[in-house]
Parts: sequence; C-alpha cells; structure tokens
Amino acid sequence: MMTYGENIDPTDEISLMLIGDDAIKALAARTDEAEGSRSDYWEHQIGNFQVAADGTMTGQTALGNASKKVSLLRNFAHAALQRPLHRLAAPFPDLADCVRLGRQIARRQNRQFTYDMLRQSFTLALIRNYLDISSGEDCSLVIGDGYGVMTTLLLMHAPRRKVITVNLTKPLLLDLAYSRQAVPEARLALVESAQEMRDALADGGIRLIAVRADDADCIGDAAIGLAINILSMQEMDSGVVKNYFRLLRGNRARQTAFYCSNKEIKVTNFDDYPWRPGDTILHDSICEWSQWNYSARPPFWHRRPRSGKLIRHRLALLEMENT
Ligand SMILES: C[S@@+](CC[C@H](N)C(=O)[O-])C[C@H]1O[C@@H](n2cnc3c(N)ncnc32)[C@H](O)[C@@H]1O
Repeated sequence: MMTYGENIDPTDEISLMLIGDDAIKALAARTDEAEGSRSDYWEHQIGNFQVAADGTMTGQTALGNASKKVSLLRNFAHAALQRPLHRLAAPFPDLADCVRLGRQIARRQNRQFTYDMLRQSFTLALIRNYLDISSGEDCSLVIGDGYGVMTTLLLMHAPRRKVITVNLTKPLLLDLAYSRQAVPEARLALVESAQEMRDALADGGIRLIAVRADDADCIGDAAIGLAINILSMQEMDSGVVKNYFRLLRGNRARQTAFYCSNKEIKVTNFDDYPWRPGDTILHDSICEWSQWNYSARPPFWHRRPRSGKLIRHRLALLEMENT
C-alpha cells in the first residue's frame, strides 16, 4: 500500500483506505447522503433515526432493540424469560459457548442481553454445528447487521479471522460503534474499492473491514468462507439481492457457505432469491427462534401466528462460478 510522501510510481493505485477513528468520522459525515442500494422501505426508515460517531442513537429504528436498561432485576427477568427458549437451539453442541459470547458482548457494551442478541447467538451455534469457522484464511461476511451483533460474535469467536461487514451508511456506523465497544482491540478499516479491499486483506493488523452497501462490489475481491444475512434481504430490492448472490458465487474463496434467515414473504420473497439446484443445502427449515418473542405480560412468550409470514433459515454451500 502506498501513502503520501513516498516515491510514487504513476502505475500504482494509491490506497486511501481509512482506519479506526478516521473511518468512523468519514462514515458519520456521510450518513445523510443518498444511497442507490436502499429499497423504498429503507429510504423511509433511514430518515427516522440519527446515529452519532460514538454510536448514540436518537429516533425510531427498525434495526432491533439495544436496551441500556441494565440492572440485576432486569438481567434476571430477561434470563428467566429466555431460558425456556434455549430448547429451540438445544441440538447444537456449542449453544452454551455462543450464549456466553453474546452475554459477554452485552456486558462490554453495558446493554441488556436482549432476545435479538440471544437469537443471533443461537444462529452462531447452528452455523458452528455444520462448519468450522474458527480458523482458516477465508473471511466471514455479514450483510445487513444491526448494532453489530453478528459481526461482534464472529470477531470474538474467531480472533484470527477477518470479518467484513456491509450495510447502509447510517446503520453501518452504528454496527461499528457497537463492535468497537465490545472488541476495541480489533483494528477496523473502511474500504471503498477493490484496491482498498486487497490492501485491507493484506494488512495483518486489520480485523474488521467495513463496506458501504453502495460499494459492495469490492467484497468480490475477498475470499468469503461464510456469509450471513439475517432479517435483511427480505427488505432489499430483488436487484440488490441478486447482486449479493452474484458476489458470493464469484468471490475468491473456493467455497462460500451462506446462512440466510428471512421472511418467506416481504419486499423480496425467500424463494425468489437466486438459489440454484447446484447449491448444497446443509440446513433448511422454519427458523423457530425467530417465530418467538417474550414480554413482561402474560402469557410472556408469544409465537407469531402460524398463518402469518414465517421466517425461513437456510445454510447452503453455494455453487460457485469458478467450479
Ligand atoms: C431489520 S435489520 C436486521 C438487523 C439484524 N440482522 C438482526 O437480525 O437483528 C435489517 C438490516 O439490513 C440492512 N440493509 C438494508 N439494505 C441493505 C443493503 N442494500 N445492503 C446491506 N444491508 C442492508 C439495514 O440497514 C439493517 O441493518
């Protein structure tokens, strides 16, 4: 990578990749810019909340819930209400470790370990049941995180593996701010081009690579062993979903596994995503833990009506373009 002040060969591309606080500041300055990868749904949602560089959020967000109401009593109430739901992920041997990681993240962020965090801990346990993602040269990719939960779980589970997170600018700023609170030692870079992606991948110190959704094409230059999309493709336009599948099938990894958990029917329907008969399905079912939620009022546990819009989850080894 070249920086200003060195002898510059005009044939070299100069990388202006931003690191750490500079990356955060640059994102914070761009949160109100127009973005081509927003669906009408997100065009509307994005104006309803503001995010500051330190992760402070104001307004109403569709990104989930990051309750700062922490007390012994509240912690106990959440744990008691969550306990019966553990049975939904009981078959996965790493469940206890994944929930432990989730709780650790919540503590470091001084927030409540909410159901949003619990269900994503369940997801990590499911993935670990099928794949070893703790080592290897490949990266993990999170498309459309919320409060950086899945990104942080991956960073903590596999400290030697880089994580790429791609999101709309404002939610991306929130993802990074929350991840940094939990894993401040993980150096982060904001990447905007294929060259910057190559530089970030070659830099052994960088663990977290942030990409704005409008720059998503640069993820094709990484080797993505695992990609995760939870409750997010359902709200994207079909062209954007197709582009993510194209990038996943054409990236530099020999094999990409894709965990996808989304409503069967919403802006874009699950069955209309460009799955292929050549994809190897490791897991495919209704995502039971996304059908449930809990509250302080009887009957405490609530299941979405079976006739309602169900959430499906699938873990597939994608048929790659280069095979
Ligand atoms: C409902 S939130 C889901 C949050 C989280 N994955 C969860 O399970 O709680 C949907 C996420 O998708 C993101 N999103 C919307 N359009 C996107 C796009 N074109 N590329 C990447 N992320 C996008 C939103 O910004 C938001 O972070």
